Amino acid sequence: MLLGVNIDHVATLRNARGENEPSVIEAAKICINAGANGITTHLREDRRHIKDNDVYSLKKNLNCRLNLEMAATEEMQKIALDLLPDACCIVPERRQELTTEGGLDAFTNKEYLSNFVKPLLKAGIEVSLFITPDETQIKAAREIGAHFVELHTGAFSNAFSKNNEEFEFKRLYNAADLAHNLGLNVNAGHGLNYTNVHKMKEVPYLHELNIGHSIIAKSVFVGLDNAVKEMLKLI
Ligand code: PXP
Repeated sequence: MLLGVNIDHVATLRNARGENEPSVIEAAKICINAGANGITTHLREDRRHIKDNDVYSLKKNLNCRLNLEMAATEEMQKIALDLLPDACCIVPERRQELTTEGGLDAFTNKEYLSNFVKPLLKAGIEVSLFITPDETQIKAAREIGAHFVELHTGAFSNAFSKNNEEFEFKRLYNAADLAHNLGLNVNAGHGLNYTNVHKMKEVPYLHELNIGHSIIAKSVFVGLDNAVKEMLKLI
């Protein structure tokens, strides 16, 4: 299983003072040198953490896989086609949310999303849809033509912290199995941390985990290099 480190919150910290420290590029390099398989970053419509300059700078200065999380808007499509990241993960976005709180409704927006991802696919970008682990959404993702689904692990992570994760775990398990059988590649992420991530090893066919907050939070105490290495050991 691969690890993509989401470095958005390095930018959150940097933006707190409106200056250049800590450097997003430096952070990404440390993650990769520690063994991470790629860098994930979410350019939000409100630019609350990662800015346009950051994604261009990451693409230019890093020799590693770059996964751009973005909303399905015309503005983001234009940026993706100009930037040409290795992968785009399409996520839903609401202005007031603290983080990406739900999955994409691929089923209801099937036609819009099919048209939206076509130019990305044509440009050779790997396309992933961030969805809840749900049969309807997985089948829709397949019809839309995505290469990957990223299963939203938020509900599992919340349930895990209450010792009540069996139901949500089973949903992830079945969803991964179905997605694989339909020919989709399967990633997962959101809310994963050093305590719950071991359960992901029991979910079949998982290709990559995208983890941000817990790694950046731990890095405050042990350093980013150690935080990434510890996570890699667990997965
Ligand atoms: N995957 C996706 C699609 C996300 O939107 C996020 C949060 O930006 C993550 C993974 C990482 O979540 P966390 O920061 O909770 O590890």
